[in-house]
Amino acid sequence: MKLIDSFGRQINYLRLSVTDRCNLRCKYCMSEDGVAACQHNDILPYESLHLIAQAAVSMGIEKIRVTGGEPLVRNGIVPFLARLSAIDGLRHLAISTNGILLPEMAQDLFQAGVQRLNISMDSLQEDKYRQITHGGDLKKVFAGLKAAEKAGFPPPKINVVAMRGFNDDEIFDFTEMTRDYGYSVRFIEYMPTLDLVDWQKQVISGQEILDRISSKYQLEEVEKGPFAGPSKDYRIAGAQGSIGIITAVSGHFCATCNRIRITSTGKAKSCLFSNHEIDLAPLLRNHNQVGVRRKLEELVENKPQCHALSIDGYEHENFLMSQVGG
Ligand code: GTP
Ligand code: 5AD
Ligand code: SF4
Repeated sequence: MKLIDSFGRQINYLRLSVTDRCNLRCKYCMSEDGVAACQHNDILPYESLHLIAQAAVSMGIEKIRVTGGEPLVRNGIVPFLARLSAIDGLRHLAISTNGILLPEMAQDLFQAGVQRLNISMDSLQEDKYRQITHGGDLKKVFAGLKAAEKAGFPPPKINVVAMRGFNDDEIFDFTEMTRDYGYSVRFIEYMPTLDLVDWQKQVISGQEILDRISSKYQLEEVEKGPFAGPSKDYRIAGAQGSIGIITAVSGHFCATCNRIRITSTGKAKSCLFSNHEIDLAPLLRNHNQVGVRRKLEELVENKPQCHALSIDGYEHENFLMSQVGG
């Protein structure tokens, strides 16, 4: 079976958020004052998340990316991932993590069947990393990268939210990681999900980043793979890893969107910026897999053609990225 939306896009990729909690507090992701985290009771039990994943895979989803908050802070995550990876028909299982817990968990994650890691790291300097994450220890992320390699993971993708005046002086350092360590680095345009004043001043467009890299290195475009996400990727000479830009603000990639999302409380979302959600929780309480399938079909049928975020503004309601999973 294939899930095709009304604009002909094939939906084969599910982003599944397992928690809205996190061991960091990146300032663009969560509100400054203690976050309005979801009530513990509202977070879906693993049983329900598994039911959704099974239903989705039976409908043509081939890749699942587990997200958070920080997915590795949820108790029991490793056995849950092992159950996901055993779903017949699922071809790719990946997680997006801040990497803090990888030193102790990388080996178990690999054994559980996780195939790839995307790791968020907005600075390579300890003091700046501590500042943006509100206290995070960059040494742990570096130790996590080592542990992941030792466990057998392929070189990870490093996510860098580009912020003017914060990390634009590190563009070359990140670029050189693609050559020196073989990691793939993606610069993400900063997205205003909270009601922030003057957010535009912080956005550095993907094109500006490419121009800056091109002043020192020649960039060669890399072809997209079959389950490729929104990033447009390039390579510098001699690098194993690629450099990508995710132009969430300056250039929409909606025409090739292949994904749907489930929040940790069971809201199905057809687009990161859509206010339209379908609440699966009532069906999950009755273990109604047929009902979930119907709702996912309805979700895909109503997937919008594009979102309305641009450098001129946005129309979506405020939301916490930690609750949707990016
Ligand atoms: P892969 O292609 O599977 O590696 O995943 P990805 O790059 O989409 O996932 P990741 O969790 O690493 O997210 C990287 C950035 O892309 C985050 O800032 C996400 O919020 C953003 N992102 C992912 N999907 C979408 C999308 O559909 N729309 C928008 N606007 N941003 C997205
Ligand atoms: N803009 C861009 N990227 C964001 N992320 C979280 N919030 C934002 C935002 N407002 C990124 C994280 C992580 C990924 C899952 O989403 O840095 O790498
Ligand atoms: Fe945590 Fe990731 Fe949000 Fe940072 S961006 S607070 S690491 S969920």
